Amino acid sequence: MRGRVRHIVVGGLAALLACLGAGAAFAEPEDDRLRLEAFFRKQFPDLQAEQYVHGAMLFDPEAMAQYRSIMEFPPFAGEVEKGEILWRVPMQSALTYADCLPNGGRMIAGNYPMFDEAKGRVVTLEDAINACRVANNEVPYQHGDPATMGALTAYLRSLSDGMKMNIRVEGEGARRAFEDGRKTFYARAGQLNFSCASCHVDNAGNRLRGETLSPAIGQATHWPVFRGGDQLLTLQARYASCHRLARHVPDALGSTRYNNLEYFHSYLSNGLPLRASVFRK
Ligand code: HEC
Repeated sequence: MRGRVRHIVVGGLAALLACLGAGAAFAEPEDDRLRLEAFFRKQFPDLQAEQYVHGAMLFDPEAMAQYRSIMEFPPFAGEVEKGEILWRVPMQSALTYADCLPNGGRMIAGNYPMFDEAKGRVVTLEDAINACRVANNEVPYQHGDPATMGALTAYLRSLSDGMKMNIRVEGEGARRAFEDGRKTFYARAGQLNFSCASCHVDNAGNRLRGETLSPAIGQATHWPVFRGGDQLLTLQARYASCHRLARHVPDALGSTRYNNLEYFHSYLSNGLPLRASVFRK
C-alpha cells in the first residue's frame, strides 16, 4: 500500500463529490461522509475504520511503531500540564472554565464545532473558550497561540479522550455553514490547482515531497498535535499550513471560512474516537 507518487488525479472522487454538492441546494451531510468512507474502504480494504485516526502513519508501519513508543512517555506531557494549570486558574469573575462549559468541560469536545442557532454561526471549542473568557471579564486568547489557547485546549480535549466525534448538522443555518465548509474543502486554487480533497482524498496514501498523504476521514480527531515531539499545532494552524503548501492564501485562524471548514471536515470523522494531543512527525 506504500505510496507511489501519483500525480494529480484529475476528475477523481473529489471532483465528483464537488459536483454532487454544487447542484442540489443541500446534499445530505451523511451522504458525503458515507461516500468518502466507501471510497477509502475500496482503496484500502485492509484498514479498519478506527485505524483512520492515525493519518499518514497508516501506510508506514515503522512510523506507527515509533508513534506507539513515543506515546508511552509523551515528550509534550509538560505542555499539556501547563494547559491544565490554565484550566484550573479562576477567571476574573472567580469562575472557572468548568463552571462555564457544558458538563464541566468533560466529554464535550466531540460535539465541536457546533452550529449555534442564537449566534447564527459555527462555534469551535476555541470559540467556546473565548466566549467563557469574555463572559468572565477576561480578554479572548488568540486562536492559534500555542502557549495559551493551544495548551488549554490540549488539556480540555484530553477530558474527552475516547468520546466519539459527534458533529450535528441540523437546521437551515447549520446546513449553509456545512456547505460553505464543503466548498472550501473542494475548492481548487493556487499555482498547483489543488484542493484539500486533491491531496487528502484522491491522493491519500500517495507521497508528496517526501510525505505520505493522510486520508481526510480521521484527520479531525486528535488536536492539537505535537510535531517533532513538542511543537504544538492546532487544527486550524494545520489548515493554514496546508493552504500555504498548496499555494493558496491562508485565512486567519478562527475566521468564518476556517470555522465552516472545520465543521465540514470534523463531520467526516463522525463516529471515530477522539484522542487529544498526539505525536506527529
Ligand atoms: C498539496 C497537498 C495538500 C493539500 C492541498 C492539503 N494538504 Fe493537508 N497535508 C498535506 C501534507 C503533506 C500533510 C502532512 C502529511 C499528512 O499527515 O497527510 C498534511 C496534513 C494535514 C492534516 C494533519 C493530519 C494528521 O493526522 O496529522 C490535516 C488535518 C490536513 N492536512 C488538512 C487539510 C485540509 C483541510 C486541507 C485544505 C484546506 C489540506 N489539508 C490541503 C498536504 C496537503
